[in-house]
Amino acid sequence: MIKISPSVLTADFLTLKDDIKKLELAGVDMLHLDVMDGNFVPNISFGAPIIRSIRKHTDLLLDVHLMIDRPHRYLNDFINEADYLGFHFEAGSDVSKLLKDIREENKKTCLTIKPATNPEEIFEYLPLCDMVLVMSVEPGFGGQKFMPMALDKIKTLSEYAALKGLNYEIEVDGGINAETAPLVINAGATVLVAGNYIFSAEDMAARVKEIKNL
Ligand code: DX5
Ligand code: ZN
Repeated sequence: MIKISPSVLTADFLTLKDDIKKLELAGVDMLHLDVMDGNFVPNISFGAPIIRSIRKHTDLLLDVHLMIDRPHRYLNDFINEADYLGFHFEAGSDVSKLLKDIREENKKTCLTIKPATNPEEIFEYLPLCDMVLVMSVEPGFGGQKFMPMALDKIKTLSEYAALKGLNYEIEVDGGINAETAPLVINAGATVLVAGNYIFSAEDMAARVKEIKNL
């Protein structure tokens, strides 16, 4: 069954505790936490203290998406609270070393690629990945339009896993809603991030169930 990882980027942080409870009851699988540094992406979101607070209030898996330059510098800040610790291939860290360091801490790895990066560029790292994140928008902001070019990348990563006997999750992030979710599921995505589509809804649980039941 498809896994849902709501992104809290556009949530109201003062009501987030209640919203997380609603999402737990709705059957989400993870929470997606977007960390932005204003350098790797042209936006600043939140950092480790917020994630520590969220960790205290939920047992959901925390799926941390670091959009920061040279992420290895901040490994210690995020490793304890994260279940999946994700960083960008393009962010200027030694990719193999960072993936190994994350696994050494018994946490799950997630290597992330921007729209301009081809999946072939990360093939060599896939044996070290528990999850691969395909961005279907330029990272930086919620509420953008889904880029269909993500579909071929998801397909390539799914076929490569079957060919090599690897079993990483394939996560997709950006512009996911009831129209785009079936397309990415069909291409082979196993984890769907959804921000605006869930947090802009009156009834968040209905939106989660709608996507889960596709
Ligand atoms: C964008 C973030 C996303 C964002 C998704 O850089 O990585 O996780 O919150 O938001 P929606 O689902 O609104 O496109
Ligand atoms: Zn994200």
